[in-house]
Amino acid sequence: MTRTVGGGQLARLLGQWHALPGRRSPEYASLAGAVRGLLADGRLPLGVRLPAERELAGSLGVSRTTVTAAYRSLRETGHLTSRRGAGSWTTLPNGHRVASSGLWTPDDDLDMLDMGVAASSAPVDLVAAARAAADDLPRYLGSAGYHPAGLPELRAAVADRYTDRGVPTSAEQILITSGTQQALDLVLRLSVPPGAGVLVESPTYPNALAALSGRRARVGTHGVDPELGWDGEMLLGALRQTRPRLAYVIPEFHNPTGHLMPAGLRERLVATAHATGTELIADESFVDLPLDGRPMPPPVAVFDRHSRVVSIGGMSKAYWGGLRIGWVRASAPLVQRLAAVRVGVDMSSPVLEQLVAVRLLDRGSEIVAARRAQLVDRRDVLTGTLRELLPEWRFTVPAGGVMLWAELDGPISSALARAAEDVGVRLAPGPRFGLDGTLERFLRLPFTLAPDDLIEAIRRIASVRHDLDRAARPAWRTPAVIA
Ligand SMILES: Cc1ncc(COP(=O)(O)O)c(C=O)c1O
Repeated sequence: MTRTVGGGQLARLLGQWHALPGRRSPEYASLAGAVRGLLADGRLPLGVRLPAERELAGSLGVSRTTVTAAYRSLRETGHLTSRRGAGSWTTLPNGHRVASSGLWTPDDDLDMLDMGVAASSAPVDLVAAARAAADDLPRYLGSAGYHPAGLPELRAAVADRYTDRGVPTSAEQILITSGTQQALDLVLRLSVPPGAGVLVESPTYPNALAALSGRRARVGTHGVDPELGWDGEMLLGALRQTRPRLAYVIPEFHNPTGHLMPAGLRERLVATAHATGTELIADESFVDLPLDGRPMPPPVAVFDRHSRVVSIGGMSKAYWGGLRIGWVRASAPLVQRLAAVRVGVDMSSPVLEQLVAVRLLDRGSEIVAARRAQLVDRRDVLTGTLRELLPEWRFTVPAGGVMLWAELDGPISSALARAAEDVGVRLAPGPRFGLDGTLERFLRLPFTLAPDDLIEAIRRIASVRHDLDRAARPAWRTPAVIA
């Protein structure tokens, strides 16, 4: 059955649609632009039937002609499809699909500078590792090739990395998955029944929110400050008050703010999670990427005395996302239960990719050192270019990871992302990292592109930012207190 959105609901979603920055345009064009914005932001789903023109006109307090013209404009750009008698429902223009992040991804647009994805291209070592892995393959060809918990040699290599980081780990405690994303999904499948409470950071990684909505979890948030990071009292207070089934944190170079959780808070977090009966997922996606040479705090799992902590991680950030290799570190019995769940999902990860991963981990210290050097360089290029071209934006230079979280000079993130798309730059606007359409003052900027592309992307972003300024737009007012 097609979902419908009522006039009142759409009016609420549209919010201050008159006030969106942009060219001075007729009212119908602003309305159409605002609907496109909601679609681009993933806040208005695809395939949803929009209200009848008369109903929306009534809810917005505009003339029906305005809504008729707005719907016509949306049809012309491919954002609305209408059939007589069946109404009008939301679509996207041809050639676009919606990525799991909700961002538009033109299938064929190779010229797009993609700053919506915080991941690097493959290291040069990948081809040699793939060739060596192909030579290893015959060892496995005599069996059926299904290893639901992962190839023993890869499980052992990942376990060794944890042991080296100070958390003694056996291969039986490791489950190999198709990326960190699947690791998260499997843990949620096992631990979060529909309607169970889950605490996440705000902002947080959008695809974690997608995985949680897939499990129909009841999601609560606690804020991570753009400058200061976690507020320990708030985080622990939220745990004590809501006693969620599970809490999901990204302690190392948090996506999207780049903060590193201090050791003291890690310890208190684990103790509080134990007291509140909460399972803790530590997403260690960026743990290999400290960039400032300072010692890393111990892994969250170091403080775990009661098997409360499940660590997840993978090779996407330091090595390559296209490998799709991730893992779970948990107690051996939990790993067995997760492997059983995983059989019902995709049986097992590909043998060849796992062998490539073993080869890459063999030379891990060298490959990761090169990746860090590359990221230090790119981080400097990004921060330098931002300071030069967008000096009014504020950000904390992250001590690691692959991104920074810029505070913009107005609540313009979605408008800017739309304008940037027109000049060939894809961005992930702030609201994507939250639950409720807030975070419009923020923009996540990864430093994973090559330096020249980074400079060009920021140059284009700055030009559309200044265009937004030149176009007449209402002044942003300080919100009034309503009592
Ligand atoms: C915090 C976080 N978790 C999980 C993932 C997904 O990683 P993978 O490619 O290993 O599935 C990402 C990728 O951006 C991420 O930033």
